[in-house]
Amino acid sequence: MRVTVVGTGYVGLVTGACLAEIGHQVVCVDNNESKIEALNKGHIPIYEPGLEDIVRRCSGQTLSFTTDLGPNVRSAEVIFIAVGTPSTPTGEADLRYVEAVAKGIGQHLDGQYRVIVNKSTVPIGSGDWVQMLMLDGAAQIADQQAVAAGAPIAKPDALNFDVVSNPEFLREGTAVWDTFNPDRIVVGSGSAQAVELMQRLYRPILDREFAEDKTLGPVPFVVTDLSSAEMIKYAANAFLATKISFINEVANICERVGADITQVSRGMGLDSRIGTKFLNAGLGWGGSCFPKDVSALVHTAADYGYDTKILKAAIEVNVSQRNHIIERLQQELKVLKGKTIGLLGLTFKPDTDDMRDAPSLTLIHQLSKLGAKVKAYDPIVSASGIREGLSDVLVETDALRLAQGCDALVLVTEWKEFQSLDLESMATLMSRPVLVDARNFLNRDAVSKAGFFYIGVGR
Ligand SMILES: NC(=O)c1ccc[n+]([C@@H]2O[C@H](COP(=O)([O-])OP(=O)(O)OC[C@H]3O[C@@H](n4cnc5c(N)ncnc54)[C@H](O)[C@@H]3O)[C@@H](O)[C@H]2O)c1
Repeated sequence: MRVTVVGTGYVGLVTGACLAEIGHQVVCVDNNESKIEALNKGHIPIYEPGLEDIVRRCSGQTLSFTTDLGPNVRSAEVIFIAVGTPSTPTGEADLRYVEAVAKGIGQHLDGQYRVIVNKSTVPIGSGDWVQMLMLDGAAQIADQQAVAAGAPIAKPDALNFDVVSNPEFLREGTAVWDTFNPDRIVVGSGSAQAVELMQRLYRPILDREFAEDKTLGPVPFVVTDLSSAEMIKYAANAFLATKISFINEVANICERVGADITQVSRGMGLDSRIGTKFLNAGLGWGGSCFPKDVSALVHTAADYGYDTKILKAAIEVNVSQRNHIIERLQQELKVLKGKTIGLLGLTFKPDTDDMRDAPSLTLIHQLSKLGAKVKAYDPIVSASGIREGLSDVLVETDALRLAQGCDALVLVTEWKEFQSLDLESMATLMSRPVLVDARNFLNRDAVSKAGFFYIGVGR
């Protein structure tokens, strides 16, 4: 099938590349010229395991990149909208990128049937809004043409398209794997024709042709109405964020009563009704999705006069959890002014270069405010040129340089390589060998044996 994906970021590029890999003819469109130029030269603008191989394999065959939307609206049967929906300063979803793309697509529609797929995470009700914007875009062009031709005002031609919601559940760091091995594919639409087309588009993935475990049954294809599909995405992220805040709250009680949250989580998580995932206490959630999506859901509910008590509490626990790590440092080092703190990890999670709303940024801000000097080592950030938002931190090239002269280290991101650090050498290089394991990621006994004073979360 002929597919256009508008927005070539973490979601759009992975979606476009994976659809090209399963045999569709895909054009990725982005208005960021330097990004498209880089992709056309074979450079991948983001770090995502497995993506580069696919892009290299498919580029020039089933995958291409351009800044030109118009011809690729007209040539496609399916058009994905995968642009960003960040938070506004007041916490609502900022829909200006979706708006621009929807109008732009509308301006290039003709009478041929197409499906427009909302893959961006958009507030409930956005499907109808996108449809309206596309019609506005189409009407604008029709008006301009009528004025140019001196024709009288007439009812616009009927346009032949459906808007569907197809929320994305991929996780950065395993996005390619997730795309080929999804737990489910959700399509929200009232049109049988659009649903059939989406099912055809995803058929090889639904049949697990590209999956790791081909013995599993077909991937569930969940068809809902538009609003329910939009709600599924928000509800899933809000649930996962709340689960993390819940276990962090239990961790805080553990610290007071003398229990160990790692043992508690294991004992709880083995209950199949609860499950072990997203039950690790630590620094809390961050990244490009959870904070903005939970906040957007709180705002949507408020628009309808509903006060989301659980979601607000989940946000509050998450904010205080980041401060809690600073408090643990203060308990151990007392005054932080003039102390040097080293952060192990900067990205919001391992195996990504994404720094959006990373908890490390809060730590850097708070520590700098308290007069501490902040250094950091991150396997991807240190090696790359990413320095946005990092003006208050000295980015070191390796863990030993990071340790040198530090009064404490804080493990912020669970990069796998941090499990094989030369802890003994690091401890000897520090002014004071204190290690706050803000993710309960390291082996406590091994860290202590290497000469550190170990501080975990909830233990
Ligand atoms: N990142 C994730 O892990 C993830 C997971 C699930 C869902 N989502 C959702 O997917 C959407 C995209 O997220 P992302 O992380 O890929 O965003 P991103 O910021 O990485 O990418 C967005 C891209 O859209 C491009 N863009 C903006 N306006 C454009 C326009 N008018 N025309 C063409 N391109 C335009 C930008 O240049 C950018 O390359 C968001 O709604 C997000 O909530 C993200």
